[in-house]
Amino acid sequence: MLSRRTQGIQLLQQHEELFACPHCNTPITIEQSGRMSCTQNHSFDIAKQGYVNMLTHAVQSMYSKELFTSRKLVLESGLYDEVQQQLASYVKKEQTVLDTGCGEGTHLARICAMSGAFGVGIDLAKEGIIEAARHYANEAWVVGDLAKSPYKEAQFDAIYNILSPANYDEFRRLLKPGGAVIKVVPAEGYLQQLRQQVFADSQKESYSNAQTVARFHEAFSQVEEVRVTNTKKVERALVPHLLKMTPMSWHYEAQEAFELNTITIDVTILIGRV
Ligand SMILES: C[S@@+](CC[C@H](N)C(=O)[O-])C[C@H]1O[C@@H](n2cnc3c(N)ncnc32)[C@H](O)[C@@H]1O
Ligand SMILES: [Zn+2]
Repeated sequence: MLSRRTQGIQLLQQHEELFACPHCNTPITIEQSGRMSCTQNHSFDIAKQGYVNMLTHAVQSMYSKELFTSRKLVLESGLYDEVQQQLASYVKKEQTVLDTGCGEGTHLARICAMSGAFGVGIDLAKEGIIEAARHYANEAWVVGDLAKSPYKEAQFDAIYNILSPANYDEFRRLLKPGGAVIKVVPAEGYLQQLRQQVFADSQKESYSNAQTVARFHEAFSQVEEVRVTNTKKVERALVPHLLKMTPMSWHYEAQEAFELNTITIDVTILIGRV
């Protein structure tokens, strides 16, 4: 059997044409040895877990390995199935899609498994990408910054941006003509049962996405909005992971007493075309 690193090298080599140097924007070639380099000789090494770190500067991420482990358990628990199915419906077989701020990769891996698209995930947080590469071998995983992304222009049929910060100038550069940006933002009821306890009596108890939605409309000439809402029963074992999956509840003190029977997933999906 091939090592995880060799699998990663082969996959990245098959999709070499997507990449450009984040320092100087010249094309990247990928050697059998796992060394990726540009024509100016900037180089990046594919790691033993099969991902590549293409950051141009050191980054201190606020997200830990523990957060991503919890996030993975929640994202694959079934709570997000309808959201993931809806997201997969926008792409098809043989298309190439980028997930920006992909975290531990479960959304992208599921979107690709359902649609047959080829997925590339990028995230600033190395801990997230290591988790992604460890579990999902069919997608290409990159540690990188959207502000200096390591891709050539016009490479992607769709760009996902799920509960993550956006960079619309960069998204427009990376999209193929006719491609779509698909952004997921929390809507009013998102994780409301959790917010109600963690932020009792505070404004953070409810969430408004009005500003984010308005910015999206400014960035794209054609926008479609789809709301996906559902409330599900929560398995007891998942409760601590729901608390750990987002920074919002890290400082919550009464974790032991915390109870949750149901949880609401309520998101707005924005589909934008240039
Ligand atoms: C709340 S998490 C969401 C992760 C994943 N999309 C999900 O739904 O589980 C936001 C992610 O955006 C990433 N991120 C923030 N700024 C970024 C940037 N400039 N470039 C790449 N990733 C970034 C963070 O590292 C983090 O993993
Ligand atoms: Zn270079």
